[in-house]
Amino acid sequence: MADEQTSIALDNGRRRFLNWFLGTTAGAFFVSVTYPLSRYLIPPEVEESTAHTVTLALKPQEVKPNSGQIFRFGSQAAILIRTPNDELKAFAAACTHLACIVQYRSDISHIWCACHNGHFDLNGKNIEGPPPKPLEEYIVNVRGDQIIVNKRP
Ligand code: FES
Repeated sequence: MADEQTSIALDNGRRRFLNWFLGTTAGAFFVSVTYPLSRYLIPPEVEESTAHTVTLALKPQEVKPNSGQIFRFGSQAAILIRTPNDELKAFAAACTHLACIVQYRSDISHIWCACHNGHFDLNGKNIEGPPPKPLEEYIVNVRGDQIIVNKRP
């Protein structure tokens, strides 16, 4: 009688452990599938930068035509571009799709997001791929040896 009760108690313990193990495994699998999917479908809110003006550590002559450089604009990444026409432009560098940091592609003279092959023209307009809206453009001024970038009012 006592052996039978011990055996039943052991079976219950094993059953509870198996139920717990299978439950947590199924839960972990569910989360591992749904979390990345939800992050893809619902883009994160990109925090607004509190900075309104940044003086870059670069000198204007250090930025070659048809090139781009990432810089910090407050707490956000931004990209400075010297276009093939020798014009300096700056944009928020967080892609408007899922906030990957964009880069400048000199081979096609586009701002490009490597995450999902998003393309922006030299006015920051989304022209190809999944980005839903243009990049925020900043105002660039050159004063002597300084590049000063401002947010638009
Ligand atoms: S994050 Fe998807 S295209 Fe940039």
